[in-house]
Amino acid sequence: MADKAELKIDGKAYELPVVHGTEGDSGIDVSELRSKTSYITYDPAFGNTGSCQSAICYIDGEKGILRYRGIPVEQLAENSRFIETAYLLLFGQLPTEAELNWFSAGLTENAALHDDVRHFFYGFPSTTHPMVILSSVVCALSGFHPTPKDPAEDDEVYKQTAIKLMAKVRTIAAYSYKRSIGQPFIYPRRDLKYCANFLHMMFSLPYEDFNIDVDAERALNILFILHADHEQNCSTSTVRLVGSARANIYASIAAGISALSGPIHGGANQDVMEMLEEIHQAGGNIDSYLSEAMIPNSSKRLSGFGHRIYKTYDPRAKIIKEYCHKILRKHKGTDPLLEIAMKLEERALREEYFIKRNLYPNVDFYSGIVLKAIGIPTNMFPVMFAIGRLPGWITHWKEMRESKPAKIGRPRQIYVGPERTDYVPIDIRK
Ligand code: CMC
Repeated sequence: MADKAELKIDGKAYELPVVHGTEGDSGIDVSELRSKTSYITYDPAFGNTGSCQSAICYIDGEKGILRYRGIPVEQLAENSRFIETAYLLLFGQLPTEAELNWFSAGLTENAALHDDVRHFFYGFPSTTHPMVILSSVVCALSGFHPTPKDPAEDDEVYKQTAIKLMAKVRTIAAYSYKRSIGQPFIYPRRDLKYCANFLHMMFSLPYEDFNIDVDAERALNILFILHADHEQNCSTSTVRLVGSARANIYASIAAGISALSGPIHGGANQDVMEMLEEIHQAGGNIDSYLSEAMIPNSSKRLSGFGHRIYKTYDPRAKIIKEYCHKILRKHKGTDPLLEIAMKLEERALREEYFIKRNLYPNVDFYSGIVLKAIGIPTNMFPVMFAIGRLPGWITHWKEMRESKPAKIGRPRQIYVGPERTDYVPIDIRK
């Protein structure tokens, strides 16, 4: 494999180093290109740019491979719990039993919010999207839990901050839902595991504990595992970029949540349900919706289909699809949207338009359906994605801060605006 590349500009050749990853991926190191040639690379939307070397997550979009710290996501989804997978990401290896117990106890200990944090929720109109509340309150946590030292420079502070974030984001998420429906907040319980505790805080009432369904709890574990990391996606890159300015970890994660709220990133699972609802309202006409989504440059897309990285079946979608069909069989006939989803998936996969462009269902197509089947309201779907992605964000923040050189992220641009123009005073402007 080459360890140098040659670039020719205006007849002059420049040698550029090549970096190699452990799975055979290679990148041409252009970090000194500008100082050597005055040229920069141009890559809008960073489709072909490696922004870092990372040891957290491996994806092969052509083969449909996703691994966390080397372990295939299929094995984790089948055998692991979310907090075990989170530990793997956050601390670099699978925990021993004692380590997992320590982590679990820390999550329980830190699940409650500082009493004053509750007041934040009343400052938002009840119509506020829960992602907005989540990102704002997570940012505010830095005021309540200032880190005694920089978590990137002290392992113990990193551990405690990671635990606080993991524990409190789940509670904030549930509280934002309770606020949106005008119900009192339900405190976390010490005897419940991570996902069960979340369902309890979402659905219990002050004098009526919610009966936690084991299938729903398992579904949440799987969904969170599938979302736990996805290397340099939009929200993770945002966390890294914001953190590179030495913004505190809470502010960096809050920025990631905001990025994730976009409808073509983490908001897609909500979009999928809204699309199904639209089709249902229009009499269930799948063909007409599909035809519109297949018009070139149409603003209408088939939500939950396509992916920047996967040009084959999204491996996460494969796992959740199986689970989704199991849940659908359990709920058969109970929800017309779920029936529409099944037909839509089948029809789209036969269309030449989708086949030619390698557009397959992504994780969000099925995750929305599973979440709906277990009773999670649609506007909470992106929040569920955020809870799942949290360990990935925290881990990337730490890795970015420990990388050498730890420079502030700062892309360049090709300026295409007006050339030098003189200021014209307002009284003589036309
Ligand atoms: N429906 C219809 N056409 C599509 C779709 C879709 N969902 N996705 C891509 N295309 C077409 C697109 O119009 C373009 O066609 P043409 O070559 O004729 O111009 C071609 O496929 C390539 O699309 P692109 O926009 O260049 O692809 P991208 O890599 O920039 O975008 C994407 C990836 C995920 C933003 C896009 O596929 C999309 O908008 N999908 C729907 C939203 C969605 O499901 N997002 C969740 C992604 S999974 C969660 C995550 O990891 O963030």
